[in-house]
Amino acid sequence: MTDLQAVRQRISRRDFLDKPISSQQVLQINKLIENNNQLSGLELKAVFNDEETHLFPYGRFKNPKNYILMLCDKSLENYNFKIGYYGQNIMLNLVKMGFGACWAGISFSRSNFNIPKGKRLRAVMIFGYVNEEISDFEKFVTSSTVNVNHDLDYFYSSSESVPEKFIDGIKAVSLAPSAMNRQPVHFIYKDNMTFSYVEKPNSLQGIDLGIAVKHFEIGSNGEIPVKITEKQKLSPLFNNLLIFK
Ligand SMILES: Cc1cc2nc3c(=O)[nH]c(=O)nc-3n(C[C@H](O)[C@H](O)[C@H](O)COP(=O)(O)O)c2cc1C
Repeated sequence: MTDLQAVRQRISRRDFLDKPISSQQVLQINKLIENNNQLSGLELKAVFNDEETHLFPYGRFKNPKNYILMLCDKSLENYNFKIGYYGQNIMLNLVKMGFGACWAGISFSRSNFNIPKGKRLRAVMIFGYVNEEISDFEKFVTSSTVNVNHDLDYFYSSSESVPEKFIDGIKAVSLAPSAMNRQPVHFIYKDNMTFSYVEKPNSLQGIDLGIAVKHFEIGSNGEIPVKITEKQKLSPLFNNLLIFK
């Protein structure tokens, strides 16, 4: 399976089979995490076959026994973006390995985790074996998030015509997970570059931004450079474009 196929296939899965992860896959996942930690400076850590389900007390997951703690040092720069970008890389690889997975930024009990001193636990990624078919439980949970189906032009602005590769990137962005399915990330195209931002980069939106940029890169096959920016910094150059649809 290619990255793009994983982007197209992925949806949040929340009903996991009560089946331990094989020791070979444990090794594979730990290696994947180690690679991403080295690239990012994050300190992500996987926990396997954990029976402590009270860590996820809000009833949004069945059998949440395998998860990745999205940990980083409190001093790490742009940690929200990095967690989103590298975390989504891990999620897509889990999809390729046949797992179901879901981000959790809200519905877990932070106080029940043993967070090392000086470290930050920003989110958790729950994963495991799943049935191919979405269960009624999952359908019920999904129905409680924002139900949106935006047109592609919701995600970007441009005063010039955009190349096909840019649209391919935006199509992948439209499939990206986001907290509460709010899809807050916006892209601006100009001179064969794209500028990407969210309104509140220090909130969970910062993670959404990293995820969306990862999807954009995959969809556009890395052919259009992405620059992360803040909305204020775009004016006056892009003033006429800043219509957050
Ligand atoms: C940063 C982030 C945090 C999230 N937190 C939660 C959460 O706490 N609980 C939950 O059930 N889903 C959570 N999700 C999953 C979103 O609800 C889901 O991605 C969104 O509804 C879109 O659905 P999809 O992933 O199936 O495309 C989170 C997603 C992201 C990206």
